[in-house]
Amino acid sequence: LCILCLRRKRRQGEPPLVSGWIPFLGKALEFGRDAQAFLQDLRRRHGDVFTVHLAGKYMTFIMDPLLYPSVVKQGRQLDFHEFSDTVAPSTFGYPPVRQGFPGLSEQIARSYQLLQGEHLGPLTESMMGNLMLVLRQDHLGAGGGWRSGSMYEFCNAVMFEATFLTIYGRPASGRRHQGMAAMREDFQRFDRMFPLLIAQVPIGLLGKTRAVRSKLIGHLLPDRMSHWVVKSELIRTRSQVLEQYATLRDTDKGAHHFTILWASVGNTVPASFWVLYFLLSNPAALAAVRGEIQDVLRQSGGQFRPEEDLTLSREQLDNMILLESSISEGLRLSSASTNIRVAQEDFSLRLGGERSAVVRKGDVIALYPQSMHMDPEIYEDPQSFRYDRFIQDGRVKTDFYKSGQKLKYFLMPFGSGASMCPGRYFAVNEIKQFLSLLLLYLDLQLEPGQSQVSLDYSRAGLGILLPASDVRLRYRPSTGQQSE
Ligand code: HEM
Repeated sequence: LCILCLRRKRRQGEPPLVSGWIPFLGKALEFGRDAQAFLQDLRRRHGDVFTVHLAGKYMTFIMDPLLYPSVVKQGRQLDFHEFSDTVAPSTFGYPPVRQGFPGLSEQIARSYQLLQGEHLGPLTESMMGNLMLVLRQDHLGAGGGWRSGSMYEFCNAVMFEATFLTIYGRPASGRRHQGMAAMREDFQRFDRMFPLLIAQVPIGLLGKTRAVRSKLIGHLLPDRMSHWVVKSELIRTRSQVLEQYATLRDTDKGAHHFTILWASVGNTVPASFWVLYFLLSNPAALAAVRGEIQDVLRQSGGQFRPEEDLTLSREQLDNMILLESSISEGLRLSSASTNIRVAQEDFSLRLGGERSAVVRKGDVIALYPQSMHMDPEIYEDPQSFRYDRFIQDGRVKTDFYKSGQKLKYFLMPFGSGASMCPGRYFAVNEIKQFLSLLLLYLDLQLEPGQSQVSLDYSRAGLGILLPASDVRLRYRPSTGQQSE
């Protein structure tokens, strides 16, 4: 009875309130089962703005994408970092950055510029070399026959290692690090617990997760990394920044580097998987995208020779707009991130026109773009993969409409506004490079007779969803006569 008395009651001007019967958890279990269906159901019953009690937090969801700009604009009353500053340290295992480390948070935020602008060129170039290295040594070797294996493993092995080499560098005495397969396995074990860690479940309750995390951090300790060469500017700068803080232990520094590892492969690997899977499931899309890659090479006077390593300039990558559209479409279909802001005071959130919603200090304001990505009014036949959905009149299409109004935000796999992913340009480039190399150097097929792969929702809210089951891939060095 006491608990019922303490339950929050809706005040004047506040959005409809949805609380579950279970104290603390509220509606968290229903959200966790299928967030998209759960939120759509609430939207039908309560309209475009409602507050849900989820795992001890009151989250106000803004469901109409036409209202997104009011949240993304983000006045001083809405903060993004408060959430990431509490959740990231306990998830990745370093001390809270805002306590006892003056200036660290700001320096870290500034370092993310090293993923963009003039820094994108060297990163992309290095990624190309590393992709080529891993593909050539592991998949383009002698013997031209068909090979087969797990498609997720294939994408994971190539993208994980090439990204790792690009971001952290290589050993001084060798081109590749030892023990990559074991590191990938540990990463996957950690990643399976990631949703629980983000939900602030204590790591001690999660079996061997603490030991697995320590092993991963152990690969990235300053002493170990000091023997590596050709590191990215991001990691060199971050290492220097971390060195300024005498109270950070080596394991804390390793944990900071581990955060970047998660950010750089945690979404990129499943995104690469999905785009490849959709292309291989759609012969017309595959032929068109492969044709575009070959055209771009021809037009810039280059010629593809399987025995030679390929480099693709930034301009060539920019010109692959069908490939880019396929990646956008793959991201639209597979991403389920929540964009979160925390109210810094009690205030009335203006939603445009006469509309507003009263929120309380500490409440979370959330956007769940998957509902927009799956809205048939915005995207016709939203469940299907249309590789050219983001192309119009031979250019990248950016006008999408809801209720007759042009949407400012229509595709949000990378978040929005202040919390937008700083690695997004690099991510799209590396997926482009990975797919270009695959489609040029290999004949690829899904093994026949496999059922369609669906999304695993256990990671809903946190980025690109993983496949619920694996799929078998067949491939061989290209014969020049594509057999799809
Ligand atoms: C943050 C998506 C690839 C670095 C984020 C966020 C999202 C996201 C949704 C959080 C935004 C928020 O909380 O609102 C993705 C997707 C990727 C990808 C879908 C691939 C398809 C990358 C890559 C890197 C990277 C390749 C780096 C090499 C980061 C970093 C942050 C971040 C450092 C944290 C930024 C901050 O705390 O301010 N990403 N990301 N991401 N991403 Fe990415």
